[in-house]
Amino acid sequence: MAGLRKVGVVGLGAMGAGIAQLCVEAGLETVGREVSDELGGRAKERIAHFLTRKVEKGTLEQAERDAAVERLSLTTDLAALAGCDVVIEAIVEELEPKRALFAELERICRADAVLASNTSALSVTEIAAATSSPERVVGMHFFNPAPLMPLVEIVRAELTGDGPFETALELAVLLGKTPVRCHDTPGFVVNRVLIPLLNDCIRVLDEARVKPEDLDAAMRNGAGWPMGPCELADLVGIDVHVHASEALYAKLREPRMAPPPRLVAMRNAGLLGRKSGRGFYTYDDAAQRR
Ligand code: CAA
Repeated sequence: MAGLRKVGVVGLGAMGAGIAQLCVEAGLETVGREVSDELGGRAKERIAHFLTRKVEKGTLEQAERDAAVERLSLTTDLAALAGCDVVIEAIVEELEPKRALFAELERICRADAVLASNTSALSVTEIAAATSSPERVVGMHFFNPAPLMPLVEIVRAELTGDGPFETALELAVLLGKTPVRCHDTPGFVVNRVLIPLLNDCIRVLDEARVKPEDLDAAMRNGAGWPMGPCELADLVGIDVHVHASEALYAKLREPRMAPPPRLVAMRNAGLLGRKSGRGFYTYDDAAQRR
């Protein structure tokens, strides 16, 4: 698509807010949609915080930061996405709410607008099938934290058209990312490998009777990981990881995909990692819980 100008982001949780931050930093007019003003306001505050940190660290000019924050408009009304060139969905990882949203977006958005899902473990094809124009539905899977992780998987669903696929690729490049092309298979590329690997790591905790901090040190120092598996599970969210594991297990039926009981118990107890203040580690500092 010539001249991407305006992008919508639906769902401004940790991933959606990170994606919206990338969009405003890239100079795109960005419409962020949340279900309440309060949640939208919280996301804008999060984005403003991280951009302010960049100013404090000398990697962004104050005027650029202010202009970027200005480029984000908030709404609770999906109709405000009507003029967007691309809409990126980052709502709850449940198939039916996503399908309902895409059916609604199809009615609201311009016929040439690209509709992208940030789903990490659901089928983009099944989401696209809720619309009568599946050729414009594509996966754009960002990694957590979205502003820092270079990769975006550009996922071709069964009926994705070449034009929308290339537009999603073009947008990822505009956002400063390193996109890879792949087809719509369970877990795409990274999660197909990373989810069973993290599950193995958690099982090793019990089997080798090793402490989380020692397992993390082992994987950082012995395998070159930037952060250990327990730190990573806390960052991603224990609930998010368990949910993604369950979704992949349901599709692939490989035992390694199934979430380890220890993680399920943590999820059930509300030990969700950074966002709840407690997971494998404790996060007392409000900044660590962002
Ligand atoms: N959003 C925006 N900005 C952020 C941020 C966030 N969530 N988190 C941190 N920042 C900013 C902060 O301002 C921070 O600086 P200050 O702390 O001084 O304010 C700055 O970025 C640098 O942060 P760090 O010092 O923490 O950066 P780092 O060099 O330690 O790297 C990291 C952090 C990139 C997360 C690195 O540890 C890493 O690569 N970890 C592995 C992450 C990973 O594997 N992610 C994939 C998860 S799997 C997934 O996402 C798939 C899925 O579908 C669930």
